[in-house]
Amino acid sequence: MLYLAEGTKKMSYWLVRGGRALNGTVSVQGSKNAALPILAATLLIKEPIRLLNCPMIRDVQNMLRILKTLGCTVVEERGALTVDSCTADSFVLPTALSGELRSSIFLLGSVLSRFGDADAPYPGGCEIGNRPIDLHLKGLKRLGAEVEERGGRIRCRGAITGGVVDLDYPSVGATENIMLAACRAKGQTTVRNAACEPEIVDLERFLCACGFRVRGAGTPTVVIDGVPEGHGTAFRIMPDRIAAGTYLIAGAITGGDVTVTDLDPETVDTLLFKLAECGAEVTRKADAVRVRAKALRGVGFTETRPYPGFPTDLQPQLFTLLSVSEGTSVLVENVFENRFKHAQELKKMGAENRILDRTAIITGVRKLHGACVTAHDLRGGAAMVLAGLFAEGDTKVLHAERIERGYESMDSVIGLLGGSVTRKEESIGEEEEKRG
Ligand code: UD1
Repeated sequence: MLYLAEGTKKMSYWLVRGGRALNGTVSVQGSKNAALPILAATLLIKEPIRLLNCPMIRDVQNMLRILKTLGCTVVEERGALTVDSCTADSFVLPTALSGELRSSIFLLGSVLSRFGDADAPYPGGCEIGNRPIDLHLKGLKRLGAEVEERGGRIRCRGAITGGVVDLDYPSVGATENIMLAACRAKGQTTVRNAACEPEIVDLERFLCACGFRVRGAGTPTVVIDGVPEGHGTAFRIMPDRIAAGTYLIAGAITGGDVTVTDLDPETVDTLLFKLAECGAEVTRKADAVRVRAKALRGVGFTETRPYPGFPTDLQPQLFTLLSVSEGTSVLVENVFENRFKHAQELKKMGAENRILDRTAIITGVRKLHGACVTAHDLRGGAAMVLAGLFAEGDTKVLHAERIERGYESMDSVIGLLGGSVTRKEESIGEEEEKRG
C-alpha cells in the first residue's frame, strides 16, 4: 500500500457490475494450495524443478520471493516455472515476507531437512482465526528436531529421523510439513490422522516424481521411507478446486450456465451436491462440470469439515449463494473460528443473516443492491464479488489484493463468461475505508 497525504491511502478495489447472467466455458487455474507446498518442496532437491500450471497469484509470488532470499534461482517463462535450489545457502526465513504468507511455515520442514537448521518468524494470527502451529512443531520434535521458540521466532535444529507422528487434528499444513521433513530422513515416518485433501495427494505425486518414497496420501495414514536425495523433474500442478467452485457458484447465483473445464469433478463433489440441493442443474463430465440455475432455494444445514467434508475455503462463497436462495439455511464453520466477516459485509448489500458463535442463520432475500464493501480475507473477498455479480447496480470490493492472493486474473475469467469485474485503484481517506 502506497502512503499519500496524511489520512489518505492508495486503495485497490474490484468494481463489480451486477445483474448479468454468466454463461460460457472457462478452464480453471492451477491450485494455490497444491503449488505452495510443492514450491516449499523444491528446497529438498538440488536440481532444477520445472512446474507447469503454477498459478501466478500473490501467494505464489511471495513464496518465490522467499525462495530467492534463501538463494534459489527462479525462472519464469512461457507458462512454466523453473526453481533450482542447488544454489540455496540460507536457512533464515525473511520476517516481512513470511509475515505476508502464512504458508511460509511449510518451509520449516524443507529448510530443516536441507540445512539441518531452520530459523523462521512465528506466523501469528490472521483474519480468519488464530491459526496456531503447535501440530507442525510437535511433529517436527517427534522426528528428532530441537525446537526453540524465542522472541517471535522459531529455531529448529538437528538431524531428522523417522518416527510415528499422531496428529491430534488432521491439519493440512502440518501433514504436508511433516511429509517434507521426512522425505530425506533416516528411516520410516508414519503420519497418523493425516489430512486427506487432494492437494496432499498432489504433493505425494510430486515427491514421488522426484524419487522420494511416499504412499498413503488421500488416506489418514501417510508413510514416508526416507531416501538421501531426490532428483529434478517436470510436474503439472493439479487444478484449483476452490477457484473452480467459486466460478460454478458465480454461474448459479447469476442464473446462468457455466462450465468449468480441466477439473476433477470428484474434488468439488460436496459443493456439487449443495448446488443440486439449491435447485441448480449439475452435469459432471470426465474433466469438467456444468452448472445451470434459475430459481434457487436454501439448504437446511451445511457444516464445514476437513476433506471429504464441505471445504471451509468455499464457505464464504456458499454463504453468498444461500443469502439469495429462498428460505432459511444454517451454515456452521467448524474449521476456523473467525471466518464469518463476510456476513456483515453482505448485510450492507441487503442480505439477512445472524451469527451465533460458529453458526450462521441465513434468510434468503430476493435482491441485493450494490454497495462499497470490504474483502476481509481471500475467500471472504470472493464471496463479495459473487454478491456484486448478483446485485442490482455496481459494487466496490475494497482490498483487491486480498483476492489476488488466490485468484489468477479473476477479471478475465469473469469477463470471458460475460460478467464485468474491473480492478481499480484510487486514493481514499481512512474514514471512507472504515465506513466501507
Ligand atoms: C490449509 C489451506 C487453507 C484451508 C485449510 C483448511 C493451504 C496453503 N492452506 O491451511 O486454504 O482453509 O488448509 O482446509 O493449503 N491448527 C492447529 N494447530 C496447528 C495447525 C492447525 O490448531 O498446528 C488448526 C487451525 O487453527 C485450524 C485447523 O487446525 O483451526 C485447520 O488448519 P489446517 O488444516 O492446518 O489449515 P492450513 O494448513 O493452515
